Amino acid sequence: MNAIRYYSKFGHSKQMAQAIEELVGSKAATVAEPLTEPVDTLYLGAGVMLGKVNSAVTDFINSLTSEVVKQVVLFGSCAIIDSPVPQMRKALEAKGIKVSDKSFTCKGSMGPIHAGHPNKTDIDNFRKFVQSTI
Ligand SMILES: Cc1cc2nc3c(=O)[nH]c(=O)nc-3n(C[C@H](O)[C@H](O)[C@H](O)COP(=O)(O)O)c2cc1C
Repeated sequence: MNAIRYYSKFGHSKQMAQAIEELVGSKAATVAEPLTEPVDTLYLGAGVMLGKVNSAVTDFINSLTSEVVKQVVLFGSCAIIDSPVPQMRKALEAKGIKVSDKSFTCKGSMGPIHAGHPNKTDIDNFRKFVQSTI
């Protein structure tokens, strides 16, 4: 049993999360939806705003325990250099939750910067990445 959760201000993480539903065998849902059953792998994604992931993501992480989640695979997008992955990894590891060494970050548009991202190639690459984690 796997799960997909995301926080998405502009729909980029949502688009990524929905693209892996079939591969993962689970419906993508926002971090506002708590996990109701134990999961083998949780796919967790977000963007970054002014260097930080939204507090809804950290609240969700704080609701998790290593008993409920065996492993987390992180993904996200960003426009500049600040991948949201390291912050999420740090918060999860602080709770003793295993985080896969494998993660995926692609460009996510910020106005005209990297316009159109995540694009089809990004999503295809993300699907390939997720396949490699299954
Ligand atoms: C107000 C604002 C602040 C942002 N701050 C950053 C940032 O500090 N670093 C970065 O790499 N990207 C930044 N971005 C780009 C977002 O991380 C990018 O658009 C991401 O794809 C959003 O994902 P989401 O739609 O799933 O929330 C910012 C975008 C906006 C609109």
